[in-house]
Amino acid sequence: MMRGVGIVTSWVSVALAQQVYVPAEGPVTRPTVCSTNGSYATATPVYSFTPFSFTQTETVRTATSVTPGPTTTYAPPYESLSHLVPDLATTTWGNWDPNATVAATDSADPYGQAAWSAIWERANLANFTYRGCTLPRYFQPQDSYYFPKDFEFGVAGSASQIEGAIADEGRTPTLMEVITIGRGEGDPKDYVTNENYYLYKQDIERLAAMGVKYYSFSIPWTRILPFALEGTPVNQQGLDHYADLIDFVIAKGMEPHVTLLHFDTPLQFYADPYDRGEALVGQNNGGYNNTTFQDAFVHYGQVVMTHFADRVPVWYTFNEPLLYCDNGRAVDAVVKAHARLYHFYHDEIKGAGRVALKFNDNFGLATFANPLFLGQDYPEAFKMTIPDYVPLTAADLAFLNGTADFLGIDPYTATVVSPPRHGIAACAANASDPLFPYCVQQSTSTTTGWNIGYRSESYVYMTPTYLRTYLNYLWNTFRHPVVITEFGFPVAREANATDLSDQLFDQPRSDYYVQFLSETLKAIWEDGVHVAGAFAWSFADNWEFGDYDQHFGIQTVNRTTMERRYKKSFFDLVDFVAARTQK
Ligand SMILES: *[C@@H]1O[C@H](CO)[C@@H](O)[C@H](O)[C@H]1NC(C)=O
Ligand SMILES: *[C@@H]1O[C@H](CO)[C@@H](O)[C@H](O)[C@H]1NC(C)=O
Ligand SMILES: *[C@@H]1O[C@H](CO)[C@@H](O)[C@H](O)[C@H]1NC(C)=O
Ligand SMILES: *[C@@H]1O[C@H](CO)[C@@H](O)[C@H](O)[C@H]1NC(C)=O
Ligand SMILES: *[C@@H]1O[C@H](CO)[C@@H](O)[C@H](O)[C@H]1NC(C)=O
Ligand SMILES: *[C@@H]1O[C@H](CO)[C@@H](O)[C@H](O)[C@H]1NC(C)=O
Ligand SMILES: *[C@@H]1O[C@H](CO)[C@@H](O)[C@H](O)[C@H]1NC(C)=O
Ligand SMILES: *[C@@H]1O[C@H](CO)[C@@H](O)[C@H](O)[C@H]1NC(C)=O
Ligand SMILES: *[C@@H]1O[C@H](CO)[C@@H](O)[C@H](O)[C@H]1NC(C)=O
Repeated sequence: MMRGVGIVTSWVSVALAQQVYVPAEGPVTRPTVCSTNGSYATATPVYSFTPFSFTQTETVRTATSVTPGPTTTYAPPYESLSHLVPDLATTTWGNWDPNATVAATDSADPYGQAAWSAIWERANLANFTYRGCTLPRYFQPQDSYYFPKDFEFGVAGSASQIEGAIADEGRTPTLMEVITIGRGEGDPKDYVTNENYYLYKQDIERLAAMGVKYYSFSIPWTRILPFALEGTPVNQQGLDHYADLIDFVIAKGMEPHVTLLHFDTPLQFYADPYDRGEALVGQNNGGYNNTTFQDAFVHYGQVVMTHFADRVPVWYTFNEPLLYCDNGRAVDAVVKAHARLYHFYHDEIKGAGRVALKFNDNFGLATFANPLFLGQDYPEAFKMTIPDYVPLTAADLAFLNGTADFLGIDPYTATVVSPPRHGIAACAANASDPLFPYCVQQSTSTTTGWNIGYRSESYVYMTPTYLRTYLNYLWNTFRHPVVITEFGFPVAREANATDLSDQLFDQPRSDYYVQFLSETLKAIWEDGVHVAGAFAWSFADNWEFGDYDQHFGIQTVNRTTMERRYKKSFFDLVDFVAARTQK
């Protein structure tokens, strides 16, 4: 900045400006702000349980009512008086900056910038503080916290959303090809998506090049078992494909984490694929309620695990099961199928890796987590409202208890929940109540009417402080390490940006990731919560179940050429993590 630079001479600073290109070769080591001795660089976090309680607090500020001042005048205006002070000249001088490195050049002018600066230099103020100094901002990542050595930072995707090639190499149809949960009939289908089935090596190379070490993906059941059921032939081409994919991930220095079922139930489980009935519990009938489902899924899981357990350290049985459980019997099938595969993996394969589920972040989580993590029965609210729920026996609970090695959660955003206006009991007793069977009022604004956070294209609001609270709840309630298995932000109207460069500079997505990870670090270091990993959703824009316009990606995909481009958020994200990863 120039000394005493003001509006009239601002062209000088333009003329002096030089374009400087700073090579960006990755993250820069950050000075520690809060710890002068760098202790966090080597320390290991100490995880501990605390009783969880949460009180919703909001800041309420009321504007003082303002009364306009009097309109009385006490003399004529300046225009009528200027003749009394003739020959006035005006100019501007701007702000005094003692640290400026460029001197004013107008020293011939007795009243110019140089003369003005000289008056301040003579004053020689000690420790003059620049008035533009800003208050600390809560969300700035100025913490000194590091991700622990064993923290797993990665990226995630799912087969139907990226693969395409739906009818190739033996795959048979899944629920995904007939579903219309996007905007309606005529929505774009998953037939092509990102062509990742053929471009997987390029995709993996691009992730490895960014320093990503963990890759979470799903295998479609119908590409392994086109006829879905036990006793039917296994598709050799499908096995070969995922063997090669897994090997390539490992060859590129990454760990493959596999999800067995990510919403793509084989169509065989529906007598009429286009009439799948009403889902009472979740948004969709995922076929889990079909009496042949449980055994068939366990068999499929056993086929995949036996083939790849030597190379795959982490297995997810179900992705977000609540959303695809249509009723209580479907919930029963999920918890039992999951537990059977957990026991198969640890007791029969003797796998040394980990088995878990990925939950969506609705209140329905305890329905699955009570039996699987604590050996406890379903919550009372679930039993009150789901008429066909299957009671769990003591033997069931003993079998289910402790059958997840960690808790996978997809905490994209938060929702404000409150009891129904007529009370929970009245709603639970009335199947015609619009809130039945959840009997929970959900909202994305606070009680004072403010949005819960900055809004994205869809249901996602930027809610980092709630994330920290939620991580505390999950850890202290279910007492297992928590992995953020998906989180991401579809920037509003990103798909409408006709200029590619506008899509690439995705600042709100960067803000989302930096804020969420900052709160995660606080949960680890300040609250003793064991958060074991975080996976960004998604590694590229993809098919969001009937919709290509909700861009969740940290890379763009050209739908004509299939070319991928890194967005700014991908760099910001990996740099944020790398700069804070324990050496
Ligand atoms: C470094 O500072 C932290 C507090 O910031 C303190 O707890 C720790 O004991 C210090 N370590 C050493 C080696 O001085
Ligand atoms: C200015 O700052 C220095 C270093 O912090 C301090 O030693 C000195 O006392 C300060 N001077 C005044 C006048 O505040
Ligand atoms: C000048 O630089 C010092 C050291 O960086 C800083 O503390 C001070 O606030 C700066 N003063 C102004 C006016 O910017
Ligand atoms: C249940 O799945 C079987 C295949 O295992 C299928 O034959 C049957 O039609 C399905 N039942 C219903 C009601 O969708
Ligand atoms: C799903 O469950 C309902 C009972 O809630 C039952 O009537 C129906 O036949 C089941 N569907 C299948 C395919 O098993
Ligand atoms: C579930 O298993 C854990 C660990 O073995 C045990 O501490 C707990 O008591 C069991 N829960 C029930 C309800 O039996
Ligand atoms: C059940 O809910 C419906 C829809 O809100 C309402 O019209 C009806 O009066 C309720 N029944 C009872 C017994 O409250
Ligand atoms: C974005 O583009 C879609 C068509 O691709 C259009 O339907 C929608 O109205 C546009 N939204 C905005 C905010 O311009
Ligand atoms: C996709 O690629 C085609 C062909 O190069 C180009 O015409 C089009 O503008 C690209 N689309 C976007 C959104 O960049």
